[in-house]
Amino acid sequence: MSHKLLTGQPVSRIEGQQKVTGAARYAGDYHVPELLYGYVVNSTITKGKILEIDTEQIKAIKGVIEVFTHKNRPSLAWFDLQYADMDAPPGSPFRPLQNADIKYNGQPIALVVAETFEIARYAASIMAVRYEEQHFFTDLESNKGKARDPKKGLATFLKPLPAKPKGDFGKAFHNAAAQVSAEFIHAAEHHNPIELFATTTVYEEDGKLTIYDKTQGTINCQLYVGNVFGLHYKNVRVISPYVGGAFGSGLRPQYQLFMSVMAALQLKRSVRVTLDRQQMFTFGHRPPTIQQTRFAADSQGKVTALGHEAVAETSQHEDYTEVVVNWSNMLYPAPHTSFDYKLVPLDVFSPLDMRAPGGVTGMHAIESSMDQLAYQLKIDPLALRLINYTDFDVTADRPYSSKELRECYVQGAEKFGWSKRTPEPRSMRRGHKLVGYGMATGIWEAMQVLARVEAVMTAEGKLEVSSAITDIGTGTLTVMTQIAADELGLALEDVTFCYGESQMPFAPVQGGSFTVSTVGAAVKAAGKALRKKLLKKAGNMPGSPLKSVSEKEVVFERGGIILKSNQNVIVYFKDIVAAEKKKVIKTTNTGVPNVFKLKNYTRAAHSAAFVEVEVDEELGTIQVTRAITAVAAGNIINPKTARSQILGGMVWGISKALFEETISDHRFGKYMNQNLAEYHIPVHADIHELDVIFVEEKDDIVNELGSKGIGEIGLVAMPPAIANAIYHATGKRFNQLPIHFDQLL
Ligand code: MOS
Repeated sequence: MSHKLLTGQPVSRIEGQQKVTGAARYAGDYHVPELLYGYVVNSTITKGKILEIDTEQIKAIKGVIEVFTHKNRPSLAWFDLQYADMDAPPGSPFRPLQNADIKYNGQPIALVVAETFEIARYAASIMAVRYEEQHFFTDLESNKGKARDPKKGLATFLKPLPAKPKGDFGKAFHNAAAQVSAEFIHAAEHHNPIELFATTTVYEEDGKLTIYDKTQGTINCQLYVGNVFGLHYKNVRVISPYVGGAFGSGLRPQYQLFMSVMAALQLKRSVRVTLDRQQMFTFGHRPPTIQQTRFAADSQGKVTALGHEAVAETSQHEDYTEVVVNWSNMLYPAPHTSFDYKLVPLDVFSPLDMRAPGGVTGMHAIESSMDQLAYQLKIDPLALRLINYTDFDVTADRPYSSKELRECYVQGAEKFGWSKRTPEPRSMRRGHKLVGYGMATGIWEAMQVLARVEAVMTAEGKLEVSSAITDIGTGTLTVMTQIAADELGLALEDVTFCYGESQMPFAPVQGGSFTVSTVGAAVKAAGKALRKKLLKKAGNMPGSPLKSVSEKEVVFERGGIILKSNQNVIVYFKDIVAAEKKKVIKTTNTGVPNVFKLKNYTRAAHSAAFVEVEVDEELGTIQVTRAITAVAAGNIINPKTARSQILGGMVWGISKALFEETISDHRFGKYMNQNLAEYHIPVHADIHELDVIFVEEKDDIVNELGSKGIGEIGLVAMPPAIANAIYHATGKRFNQLPIHFDQLL
């Protein structure tokens, strides 16, 4: 019996049972003896200074241990440094309790530590604070005049600024047969993973810290804590095996981590700080944006000119940037382009990457504008995409490493029944409801960064693989176990993937849809090195049948090394380890992107979304009754967890198009719907038929797995596909998300 490859199989989540039975412990769940509880006090003003905080009255409450404010926080050299950030993403992050200045509404200004959570929360709720208020600006629209270029820095190097103009955009646009000019407005969104942000800092006798944190990056948080509090990294252990969603909100260490560690160090006690749902709206969000597109095409449908400008919000203390405007020319090779991206600093917390940051924002404008072009030209929207199809990325003057987007269009359209669409708006009905079909294209970068993995062969002949990577719900544990098992020809049960601890070999944050390629490549590198080691040691065993045998002559399966020429000859892994006098055999290796090869190619995943909506014109209700996303993302390691990723992205697409926004009252500079009752997200009744197609895509260039990552690609095409379907149903074009029934009536 030969090893049946586990990669490519729809393996169920290994930790699924733990999660559904409640056995999986999250950052705020760990039982720690004599634990203290911290509750954060947030500013009720938007800008100004703290004049006075009455901590004495609070400290008198029975059970309150200490109150931390900017006045008594420990002195931290880090606060005085200009650019002392080791965070991902890079920048100059907010520093809690730095001084008396209030920079945004909801800013953490104090931490009350008490014997119970309830006492801490009660004490925090009655704390008297006197402020001096200053004039503030929180509205993007009315402050558009302040838009300026993003400052140059590491952040803008990693996330490129708008591409340079090409050709003669003004002339080309003016002279074109078809022109579209449209404005798109997006509200702020908050990530709102179901797991609240929490940190449990366990203070050990010798001053060492074990920190259970909700984060996307254990080492990122370890470095942050080490740097900020001047601790040796070895004494800071960050553990985060289960993460109840994050979507980018955990890319950066959040302020509850700072608060919890600060209190633990000062009090020499273990301290937990948990944010509540309201407080989940007090850090990081997808920035509101205003976009303007100007697209033009010749009478045959060839796009000739692409203009795309975006203005986005940022904070006063840092320039958050994302790639909103560069995508159109990657998809449609127009010779004349004009792109611009500007920021307006406002009195808000810095925006933060949220699933498909920039991409989902830009693609809505791009793909809605393409739809408008299609109607003007009387060309089917799908046909228009095919007229402008390319395998070459003109923006970087290089081909795509692979691009099966055409197959996404073809297979998606076929399964959806796109050909049944009648082109005229308002031409399709079901009962008293209008029916609309819409489609859109998606693109997202396929990245790979560095990671290290240790592989150990145990005395039982089992494989243990470890990496500091987190699994934010994507399926990393399962997928890495599959890849590792195939490397040694083992069954899934004989492989353990250990992860989510900063003391394990280096891994970056989980994000950017790059975990499978990044950590997967490291697992493969370690697997290869371990095979080599095992074969060498097997050959050195007394009387070994594998003496001087090369790797080409053997296979690794059935828990051992088998000679190809005589399959009866097997040397078991456990016997190889036993011959080492029970010492484990291990290796640590790095997964490295092949930059010399990769620089000649653009690497991206693609998708095509097809959506059916039903619109009730009398009630103004919109339902996404059917949606299909066809995805080209290279080799799919686990079709089951991958499908879930795409489905999750599609649900979010529906949410972004129809439900989700954080609403500000700019008179107070404050978010008004800081709860899950008024921050609308879809419920089960809003989600109908969803389907996912993975088209075959072979890519030997992108990385040794041939995989591109699927965390973000499922989201990007959905909002424009929905908006386009609504236009087809109603004949009305809505460019402001979310599209609400009041717009429709
Ligand atoms: Mo993602 S926004 O890279 O966590």
